[in-house]
Formats: sequence, structure tokens, C-alpha cells
Amino acid sequence: MKIKTAVFEISNSDVSKCPKERIPEYAFIGRSNVGKSSLINMLTNHSKLAKTSGTPGKTQLINHFKINENWFLVDLPGYGYARVSKKTKRTFQSFIKNYFLQREQLIGTFVLIDSRHEPQRIDMDFMEFLGENQIPFCIIFTKADKLTPNKLKKNIEIYKTKLLEDSWDIFPDYFVTSSTSKEGRDSVLDFIAKINEQLKE
Ligand code: GTP
Ligand code: MG
Repeated sequence: MKIKTAVFEISNSDVSKCPKERIPEYAFIGRSNVGKSSLINMLTNHSKLAKTSGTPGKTQLINHFKINENWFLVDLPGYGYARVSKKTKRTFQSFIKNYFLQREQLIGTFVLIDSRHEPQRIDMDFMEFLGENQIPFCIIFTKADKLTPNKLKKNIEIYKTKLLEDSWDIFPDYFVTSSTSKEGRDSVLDFIAKINEQLKE
């Protein structure tokens, strides 16, 4: 899919104030610093569309970006950010949960996982929350440029084993990306394009 236009639409912390337009949207969620905003910039070929930072907790709101004038990419705040209280850290901010529970336009959810790390409880908990609420999702293993292909393969295997042990019957569709090398760009965009096409039928 070719990205012709990518335009910031609105930021807020209240799902009821998100755009009213009935067009498909795709959201990126995951721990703070996993690379959600960088991935949006990589996919859209705009280095500064979504704000990124080396310090976790950069994205604080629900951000809608309109793509090709007919669908949205949504950048969300990360979870597991240490500056918030332990309780908030463990339970996820309620407006993020509300976004997932209430947003009818949400067609695709991508849970981002740092490909360097072992499975983390907080990601498992978030995926469990999605599962319990029948919200389908894909996994994106980010920052693939930071490890060797062998180590990457090994880490994905560890992840698969852990999820299957953790009461999941199947491993979700997944992608491997790098915002610096642009690895995975075509796969993610083609996946979205395919869904957009199916929705038109
Ligand atoms: P919050 O908004 O705080 O939740 O973080 P985020 O998930 O949006 O992460 P962000 O995109 O701001 O990236 C965090 C840091 O990781 C930045 O320093 C990025 O440059 C770096 N980063 C993100 N993606 C990649 C990647 O694919 N490769 C490398 N090497 N660095 C990356
Ligand atoms: Mg961000």
C-alpha cells in the first residue's frame, strides 16, 4: 500500500471525544518505549508525525492520524511506565481500557513487544484483557535491528511457547519490524490494506 497522506487529526484522553467518522482504525499498544510512535512514523514515512523519545512515557494521549484520507492509525500511551504509581502501572490507565472496550471503529489492534526481551507479565496481562473482551490482535516484535537474526528467532520461539502455556490455543499473527531499517513495513501495510479492502466488500 502506498501512503499518500498522513495527517494528525486529534489527541485526547476520552474515547467519546475521538473522531466520529466511521472509517476503520488500527491501534498500536504496548509498554512505554517499545517503539509505538516510531513505528507509526516508519509506516507513514514521516519522521516527526508521532512524537518519540528515548525516555519512556512520551505519548500520554490517544492520537489519531488520518491516512490516505480514509483510515486512521492510532498512537496510544504505553503501559508499565515507572513514573505512575504501582497500582496504575499494574492495572493500565482506565482511558486506554475504555478505548479498547468502547471504540467501535477499532478494526485492528497491534500489541508491540520489544523483540530483545523475555515475555513480561504486563504484556501477558494486556493480551489476556484483550482476549477476555473478544478483541482480536496481532503481535509486532519491534527493534529487530538490535539483535541478530538467530537471537530474534529464538526469542520469538520463547514467546510462542510462553503464550501457548499461558492458556492461549493459538499464537496470533505476528510481524517483525525495525523502525530504523524499515523491516516489516510492507508486511504491516499490506495486512492493513487487505482488511480495508475486505471491509469495502
Ligand atoms: P511511549 O510513547 O513512551 O509509550 O513510547 P513508544 O512506544 O511510543 O516508543 P518511541 O517510539 O517513542 O521509541 C522509544 C525509543 O526507542 C526511542 O529512542 C526510539 O528511537 C527507539 N526505537 C523505537 N523503535 C526502534 C527500532 O525499531 N530500532 C531502534 N534501534 N530503536 C528504536
Ligand atoms: Mg509513543
